[in-house]
Amino acid sequence: MKHLVAPSLLSADFSNLRPDIEMVNQSQADWFHLDIMDGTFVPNISFGLPVVKAIKKYAAMPLDVHLMIVQPERYIMEFKEAGANILSVHYEACTHLHRTLHTIRQQGMKAGIVLNPHTSVILLDDIISEADLVLIMSVNPGYGGQQFIENTYGKIGRLKELVLRKNPDCLIEVDGGVTLDNARMLLEAGADVLVAGNTIFAAADPIATILRLKNLS
Ligand code: DX5
Ligand code: ZN
Repeated sequence: MKHLVAPSLLSADFSNLRPDIEMVNQSQADWFHLDIMDGTFVPNISFGLPVVKAIKKYAAMPLDVHLMIVQPERYIMEFKEAGANILSVHYEACTHLHRTLHTIRQQGMKAGIVLNPHTSVILLDDIISEADLVLIMSVNPGYGGQQFIENTYGKIGRLKELVLRKNPDCLIEVDGGVTLDNARMLLEAGADVLVAGNTIFAAADPIATILRLKNLS
């Protein structure tokens, strides 16, 4: 499978989102990556359900929603109704992760597990079979434009071994500090989906940058 590219709208112009949505629509991107932050699980607050709904009206690709919120199980139905196609929850935020993933799938969405930089992939051994994707955070979640954490390459490699052994259909997504310089190595380590915010939206030509991220392999 050719890898996927998911631009993160966290780095878009929040005072005028529509042109950035249209830019992504016209690009080779595969998904819209939407970062939901509650000011408790992470120190920042981003945007919520009404903005997801508004983005859904114009987005031509699936919405990949990354919940950085405590007790995300409270909002599964609401994000489905707002238009999420993929809903990812943090391992660190879920007391009953198995049940939460099942509920997401019951609602007709793909279910993802997100790991913070300090959370080992070893902990996924008994839950990986229930996930459609695992998102590896390569920065501490909460902000765009942060420095990539180098340990991520090895972590993706260890996750790839687990995926091949227990759930070969499970996608590996990487999020945080992804650039044109490290993207190829992330794909070689085993990543299937590249999230990029700053690299795309701070570029002089975002559409060309998305194309370059797509054409790495
Ligand atoms: C960070 C978010 C990321 C963020 C990535 O908490 O999960 O999706 O937008 O931004 P960049 O690519 O700028 O590091
Ligand atoms: Zn994200």
